[in-house]
Amino acid sequence: MKTYILNDGNSIPALGCGVFEVPADGTTYRAVRMALDAGYRHIDTAAAYNNEAEVGRAIKDSGIPREDLFVTSKLWIQDYGYEKACLGIRASLAKLGLDYLDLYLLHQPYYDVQGAWRALEKARDEGLVRSIGVSNFTPRLWQEHIPYFATKPCVNQVEFHPFFQQRELRAFLEREGVLLAAWSPLGHGMKELLTHPLIREIATRYQREPAQIILRFELQEGCAVLVKSTNPAHIASNLALFDFELSDEDMKALRGLDTNRGMRDPEEPGRAEYLLAKYRVH
Ligand code: A2P
Repeated sequence: MKTYILNDGNSIPALGCGVFEVPADGTTYRAVRMALDAGYRHIDTAAAYNNEAEVGRAIKDSGIPREDLFVTSKLWIQDYGYEKACLGIRASLAKLGLDYLDLYLLHQPYYDVQGAWRALEKARDEGLVRSIGVSNFTPRLWQEHIPYFATKPCVNQVEFHPFFQQRELRAFLEREGVLLAAWSPLGHGMKELLTHPLIREIATRYQREPAQIILRFELQEGCAVLVKSTNPAHIASNLALFDFELSDEDMKALRGLDTNRGMRDPEEPGRAEYLLAKYRVH
């Protein structure tokens, strides 16, 4: 498995298994068990997904030594502000049944971001989390908050797929030495992406599935990729990305699919209130 070195010196497996919107009715447990059995060692959850307990149970039952795993979770905006965030981090650890997290992120760039970040820094200093980062920060939101942080985030996890290649943000993060981690790397399973003629043509030539071409493209672009599936065949094929390489010419063609438009805009007015109302963690 390819890994990246974060700006704090820790390493992160380039490919992880995501569980956004996977129900906590046994489905998350089964998906994570399947992923771990297939060979994934990086699992990405969040307090707001309300499935940390199932992720934790799957990890425990897998029998895989803790040090061989990379586990990420995220603090929800309901728990922002220093005091609440200190409790929120411990709540994630308790639900997951873990002593520490490899990476903990501020899930959204709203409300008392700076207080919440100080709590993440404290948790890192106490050994509760190894690395800390953010999610859904645009360059503008980054400039609004990050200059006031004592520690620069290691990771910014954002929407990224061939139709939304985040050129401005990527150039910005590269200058800052921050890894971009891709959520919805398959565009949320969007048919227009998975059946796009260019992707199909490349897939045929490499004798791969369209999803593998997309995920491989993202890895070659230097992103960490968090792919979600509950389908055993997809879970296995989404991991089979490390025995082929896309040519420079194919990479260039795939770069041409960018529409510079995502499914979500973190700067959209009312987004914070919408998210706070939609996802409740307690
Ligand atoms: P499924 O669970 O049936 O595999 P994203 O990570 O971009 O949000 O996309 C997730 C969606 O993509 C899920 O609906 C998932 O459905 C689908 N998906 C995951 N892997 C594949 C694949 N290899 N081929 C087609 N669809 C996939």
